Amino acid sequence: MDSKEINIKEPKGKLGVLLPGMGAVATTFVAGVMAVKKGIAKPVGSVTQIGTIRLGKRTENRSPLIKDFIALAGLEDLVFGGWDIFEDNCYQAAKKAGVLDRYMLEQIKPELEKVKPWTAVFDKKYVKKLDGTHIKSGNTKMELVDQIRQDIQNFKKENNLDRMAMVWCGSTEIYMDPSEDIFNDLDAFEKAIRENHPSIAPSMLYAYAAIAEGVPYANGAPNLSVDFPALVEFAKKKGVPIMGKDFKTGQTLMKTILAPGLKARYLGLNGWFSTNILGNRDGEVLDDPESFKSKEVSKLGVLEHILQPTVYPDLYGDMYHKVRINYYPPRGDNKEGWDNIDIFGWLGYPMQIKIDFLCRDSILAAPIVLDLIIFMDLAARSGMKGIQEWLSFYFKSPQAAEGLYPEHDIFIQLMKLKNTLRYLKGEELITHLGLEYYD
Ligand SMILES: NC(=O)c1ccc[n+]([C@@H]2O[C@H](COP(=O)([O-])OP(=O)(O)OC[C@H]3O[C@@H](n4cnc5c(N)ncnc54)[C@H](O)[C@@H]3O)[C@@H](O)[C@H]2O)c1
Repeated sequence: MDSKEINIKEPKGKLGVLLPGMGAVATTFVAGVMAVKKGIAKPVGSVTQIGTIRLGKRTENRSPLIKDFIALAGLEDLVFGGWDIFEDNCYQAAKKAGVLDRYMLEQIKPELEKVKPWTAVFDKKYVKKLDGTHIKSGNTKMELVDQIRQDIQNFKKENNLDRMAMVWCGSTEIYMDPSEDIFNDLDAFEKAIRENHPSIAPSMLYAYAAIAEGVPYANGAPNLSVDFPALVEFAKKKGVPIMGKDFKTGQTLMKTILAPGLKARYLGLNGWFSTNILGNRDGEVLDDPESFKSKEVSKLGVLEHILQPTVYPDLYGDMYHKVRINYYPPRGDNKEGWDNIDIFGWLGYPMQIKIDFLCRDSILAAPIVLDLIIFMDLAARSGMKGIQEWLSFYFKSPQAAEGLYPEHDIFIQLMKLKNTLRYLKGEELITHLGLEYYD
């Protein structure tokens, strides 16, 4: 498709940020935005805040900041709201999460304390390790949807918001089979909500409510939430951008950086063993086998899609991929992820790579939440609807159009993201093709 400038509505007024789940990731994101606004810290890791984009030929030397190239909502436009099963305000929750230090939190305490979660839609059946105290009740799941919609409408009115966007930062729910009939079409799904079908988890109710209110929705966890045909159909019908799933941080981030490089040099892979220790609440939730199953499925798809064993059977046909997550409280949010990678080269000679990533999960996830909010809003203002594959860059298990495989290679994902921005502004797409050899 040729580039032609698309009509993008100006980002005027306030942008409401809706966060179901105000734990480690959400509070690190909210506190981070407040700290950046105060000039206490820099928004490291955020494409929307510090990323640049090359335009035209290399000789033109045009590489503006993305936020100067295309009109995006600014940090000062963001207003925060959300839900949690615990009553703690954002300051208390951030303190408990233990990601940011006391010194930083004290400087933004008054602003953080003002962000208080609304009562959540929660059922222990879907997150076995948690017991909520701050939760809604209703006779049917559709009544609960209506309560979420009411919260969204009140938030908009009380804060005089122009637009909103929602990112699921709640705990990982148990695995659900996406091939169940109720997920296949919208009528069946709505009927199932009204009839309290047991396969409808709370995250799906938030997603449904967001779409019904015309609010773009991104899913940061590996549970289904919005990743099935019925809600894709609903999003298209309502003209709403949706995306997911599972923020790409930590070990999977490393995997999607390294695996494309090995494949680019046609090096073979016998096995990739990944194990993690982490001690935050997310780790505790993932200690339950049913929640872990959602995470495992999300993490395992990556290598298969990047390395394409059916195309390269000699290199990847026999690879063994294993992922483990171990809950280990002393480590808190500071996860440690080990990878042992058995590769082989010329004539099949074996080699090994070891990675020991001492990472901070929520520090890697917070800029993703920020970028998703800002880019989702851009998508909505540009008239884009349905699955936003150009934002696959941010996900472990990107949602893709039916019949298509997801793109996992982080370098292709980044090219797709930037080319989408160029396309929106009528700029030439960058193919890296050089024709100077013929001059
Ligand atoms: N931190 C990362 O790097 C990372 C990466 C990928 C995905 N994730 C996912 O993001 C999510 C958040 O991670 P976290 O580290 O902040 O976890 P967390 O446990 O600190 O926070 C999750 C919050 O969600 C709340 N919650 C659970 N069910 C809810 C519901 N139905 N409604 C409202 N609130 C609910 C919990 O009370 C908790 O406060 C998890 O699902 C995690 O798997 C995190």
